Amino acid sequence: MTVSGPVPRASVLSIEAYVPGKSTAPGSVKVWKLSSNETPLGPSPKAKAAFAGAADKLELYPDGSSSALRTAIAARYGLDPQRIICGAGSDELLSLLAYSYLGPGDEAVHSEHGFLVYKIATLAAGGTPVVAPEKNLTADVDALLAKVTARTRLVFLANPNNPTGTYLPFDEVKRLHAGLRPDILLVLDAAYAEYVRANDYEAGLELVATSGNVVMARTFSKIYGLAGLRLGWMVGPSSVIDAVNRIRGPFNVSAPAMAAGIAAIGDSAHVEAAVAHNDQWLAWLTAQLQALGLEVTPSVGNFLLVHFVQQPGKTAGDADAFLSARGLVLRRVDAYGLPNALRLTIGPEEANRLVVDTLREFLAR
Ligand SMILES: Cc1ncc(COP(=O)(O)O)c(C=O)c1O
Repeated sequence: MTVSGPVPRASVLSIEAYVPGKSTAPGSVKVWKLSSNETPLGPSPKAKAAFAGAADKLELYPDGSSSALRTAIAARYGLDPQRIICGAGSDELLSLLAYSYLGPGDEAVHSEHGFLVYKIATLAAGGTPVVAPEKNLTADVDALLAKVTARTRLVFLANPNNPTGTYLPFDEVKRLHAGLRPDILLVLDAAYAEYVRANDYEAGLELVATSGNVVMARTFSKIYGLAGLRLGWMVGPSSVIDAVNRIRGPFNVSAPAMAAGIAAIGDSAHVEAAVAHNDQWLAWLTAQLQALGLEVTPSVGNFLLVHFVQQPGKTAGDADAFLSARGLVLRRVDAYGLPNALRLTIGPEEANRLVVDTLREFLAR
């Protein structure tokens, strides 16, 4: 007898589930997790204390409007708290945007090696992802605009992008926006904004403030070191914030996450220390890996895309196996269409030095 169970929508079954970075390595070696762009500095001690303090009230539902957290974010960035929404990671907000604006037949454009959640969220909402080619592993405004059709509802842009680490100067972001119809929502995903030191970069607050069709998403998972708590936020036009508020879970952000987020945003010294660490080791790792003869895509984030050759024994897969066996867990990026590369998160000094020594050994053998 054949039992036929419930069948999900075809678009759901067309999704290849997101595979997070590995956190283990074979054997009993000490593991350095350099696969998910987490900060080696951890969260602010103030955020940890606030998190612990929230343990006394776990029986209570959190404030469903994340009011105190929105106030803290608004104060930090000079924003109107009414135009901010918080979520269980920025992933949640990206998905809620897709559910709010896409249905069957609607298109969302993203760039070739853009963050995978855009495709997943688009398909999950029943929409169609449309991929624009990149130039030099960098989003290309002309290519993105060329993919816009009458059915386009959303354009997703990670700036800087994960996993490439490349970015678009703000002039280019403005040119992209200028080329979009007012009914198309431009989603600027600035998950790594705090790390960027380029003078021509801006996360996009000015565009959000001056237009009716731009949102910017941010996260507490990266520089704030709160990935485990799942906390993100988004600022945008009232109409967009209102739409997303209608469909989000009524208590989508937990009380400990809110408390930690408020404390984290107030500890600017901790953020500065994380930026300084990244500046130092991003430059050092880039130079050292290039000196080994590896091609490294210039990155403005807290990670590097390292390229390998297709020669047997020297591929990205071979390097991944070699590094993993020594406790160094990097990220395979095949799912991003980059089978010959590995993504390396900037780690603590000891791990960074070990990566270079291990890759030297890998290339010499
Ligand atoms: C570009 C980009 N956007 C969003 C996210 C999601 O972050 P969150 O932990 O806030 O969901 C990530 C995390 O890897 C990312 O790389």
